[in-house]
Amino acid sequence: VKVAVFASGNGSNFEALVRHQKHYKVACLIVDQEAAYAIERAKQFNIQTYVVPKSLYNTRKAHEEAILEVLDMHQVEWICLAGYMRIIGHTLISKYPNRIINIHPSLLPAFPGRHAIKDAYHHGVKITGVTIFYVDQGIDTGKIITQEAMYIKKGITLENLEKEIHVIEHRIYSETLEKLIGGYDETSTH
Ligand code: GRF
Repeated sequence: VKVAVFASGNGSNFEALVRHQKHYKVACLIVDQEAAYAIERAKQFNIQTYVVPKSLYNTRKAHEEAILEVLDMHQVEWICLAGYMRIIGHTLISKYPNRIINIHPSLLPAFPGRHAIKDAYHHGVKITGVTIFYVDQGIDTGKIITQEAMYIKKGITLENLEKEIHVIEHRIYSETLEKLIGGYDETSTH
């Protein structure tokens, strides 16, 4: 099963998806920012990268059509957003119905947006976690596929909370994708 990953920045979730690929293959990386560190990671793993900046296109539709050409070329069946900082529009969603997923570092619908870990930390919630959901045209609003919760330890620093969240993310994104594409669950005895 061929998967494209979309990223705008660091790309640690992209790398985790690549490292754990088993029944799926990361066919390409799509980035909208030419400075994205994800590009360096893709080089290490020999994954083809396409830099497609929105600024080259007048509309979201035109931008997404350019991306679709790449996806068609690679016969991509699933899209994983991994720190991709753009709203996905009708053009992509209608071509990939229930085939675009995203990961978010909080228990949605709590703490949507860019600063979810920090927001949860400063709010003083005692439990937070990671959500994987189907992408719709909103920001972090799509139907939830899975969540993993964790306690926020007393006195933990924000930095360490971020690390703990990322450890969960890097494990469950590929696990969840494996289940979605083929019902694979090696921990199951059935
Ligand atoms: C992750 O925390 C992810 O949940 C959120 O953006 C962050 C991306 O991190 N959507 P990275 O670029 O994968 O390191």
